[in-house]
Amino acid sequence: MYRTHTCGCLRSCNVNETVTLAGWVQKVRNLGAMTFIDLRDRYGITQIVVEENSPAETREAAAELGREYVIQVTGRVIERQSKNPKMATGDIEVAAEKLTILNVAQTPPFTIEENSDGGDDLRMRYRYLDLRRPPLQRAMILRHRMAQAVRTFLDKEGFLEIETPYLIKSTPEGARDFVVPSRMNPNQFYALPQSPQTLKQLLMVAGYDRYFQIVRCFRDEDLRADRQPEFTQIDCEMSFVEQEDVLEIFERWAKYMFKEVLDIEFTEPFQRMPWIEAMERYGSDKPDLRFGMEFADLTELAKGHGFSVFDDAEYVVGFAAKGCAAYTRKQIDSLTDFVKRPQVGAKGLVWIRVEEGGVKSSVDKFYSPDEVKAMADKAGAEAGDLVLILCGAKFKALTQLCALRLEVAERLGLRDPKKFAPLWVVDFPMFEWDDETQRFYAMHHPFTSPKPEDVEFLVSDPARVRANAYDFVCNGTEIGGGSIRIHSPKLQAQIFDTLGFTPEAAEEQFGFLMNAFKFGAPPHGGLAFGFDRLCSLFGGDSSIRDYIAFPKNNAGRDVMLDGPSAIDPAQLEELCLQLVEPKN
Ligand code: AMO
Repeated sequence: MYRTHTCGCLRSCNVNETVTLAGWVQKVRNLGAMTFIDLRDRYGITQIVVEENSPAETREAAAELGREYVIQVTGRVIERQSKNPKMATGDIEVAAEKLTILNVAQTPPFTIEENSDGGDDLRMRYRYLDLRRPPLQRAMILRHRMAQAVRTFLDKEGFLEIETPYLIKSTPEGARDFVVPSRMNPNQFYALPQSPQTLKQLLMVAGYDRYFQIVRCFRDEDLRADRQPEFTQIDCEMSFVEQEDVLEIFERWAKYMFKEVLDIEFTEPFQRMPWIEAMERYGSDKPDLRFGMEFADLTELAKGHGFSVFDDAEYVVGFAAKGCAAYTRKQIDSLTDFVKRPQVGAKGLVWIRVEEGGVKSSVDKFYSPDEVKAMADKAGAEAGDLVLILCGAKFKALTQLCALRLEVAERLGLRDPKKFAPLWVVDFPMFEWDDETQRFYAMHHPFTSPKPEDVEFLVSDPARVRANAYDFVCNGTEIGGGSIRIHSPKLQAQIFDTLGFTPEAAEEQFGFLMNAFKFGAPPHGGLAFGFDRLCSLFGGDSSIRDYIAFPKNNAGRDVMLDGPSAIDPAQLEELCLQLVEPKN
């Protein structure tokens, strides 16, 4: 037997037991007469002591040790003379009788401790070493526990876990596909699923009325802190349900997860916020509700006073930054610089300081104190607040102000990762207009059903049509989303038409689904949660990367495996592929 115990489990009650531990050497301190070794495995760290009277081979082996050597130690558990209350095993140590070096190790390129001295790139290259560190171990353990909790809940509710293929035909979720050439079908390609969307709908046609899968999805899109090219969804679908049924069961699921994993109880129903309200109050379809600072439409109050910037704008919108009236010129300039960054894209920032004695603003020239005060009042400002105002095309101004709201909250320390503010965003628009290509796109995906009362506008005014779609949002992140699907072939054909598909193109891309619907498709709907995002939310992190064992870097590369990489010319030939020089 390699070990009788792990490095995290020995306590005072084990004193006098003879134990065998195995693990990695975290640290060796040689104090002449005695050598102390911190022995680590994923369960914790135990102090090993090699004493003057330990057997000679044990002392010799101890003298050879370096960081990350793999060793096995047999010895007696003894009470420590100086206890370490910061360590779970800090009351005891193991007096080594036998110490075997199981494997030597090169000196690692960074310290393998709670806080490492290694930079991002280095730690990604040696991910297997980084994964030895406690923060990553905690993340992996959390992810595991969450996956188990998901399965327990859904199993109890009668959901079947069914796998779907990875080599498929494209399913559109709005990103680019990753494609895989087929050797047996020359010049043809599989697409890796952006999600199992169409497959789970086919499972509904097949009668598996409650399906789920913890499944990898692949999307070739620009990466951000909360996006990876391959990520995991908790993908679910149900038959004979309406929106309310889906929200009910998955709200219960979300509450179960919070309780099981974090011991946080939500007794009240989650807020349901229509999309337009989320946009107008927070400038985002994934509002962060951990703090207030809601938006106010100042358009009417702002226009018509000779300030051309506001006069020419479609929309003027502001919010009261709580307690920021005392911001210095420099602090305000830095907020102005923030909104002018290309990522935000605003032209300038107007502010109003609200103080006991009155108001002062950057546009005092154009407005009387009463007019400025009216704007501040509408923004809900009280003495001590700083009203921040942007203008422009309505949704652009709202989105820009959202970025500023989150930035201010960040600076004020209001984005507390230990606080959770979940909600459902509902009543999304069906379509999004794209100026560049001059056509509508499905805001969720083309299988989403419109609200029955809005179907009449499908032809006359598509922009007005709302969808039976919903997102689960928490702390400013979209954790999940879904919809009630279209099950009528006729309505589906009409939606494809609005989206600019010719009947032939729709048939070519989605014929398999449309055909299946001719054989008795039940009404159905579902949703998918981003599992990596859920894990990082529960772990209190904004980046999902450390909740994935082997993630890609921001350029979509696996720097540990050094992929993607060139392939053998023979492989190319077999696949009937030729390479061309990239354009740039
Ligand atoms: P959607 O595209 O909204 O819906 O995806 C569902 C959830 O998956 C997560 N997610 C991502 N996580 C990490 N990296 C990414 N690149 C990434 N992209 C998405 C998000 C998101 O909310 N088939 C539909 C679901 C349905 O209608 O049932 C779908 O995939 O948390």
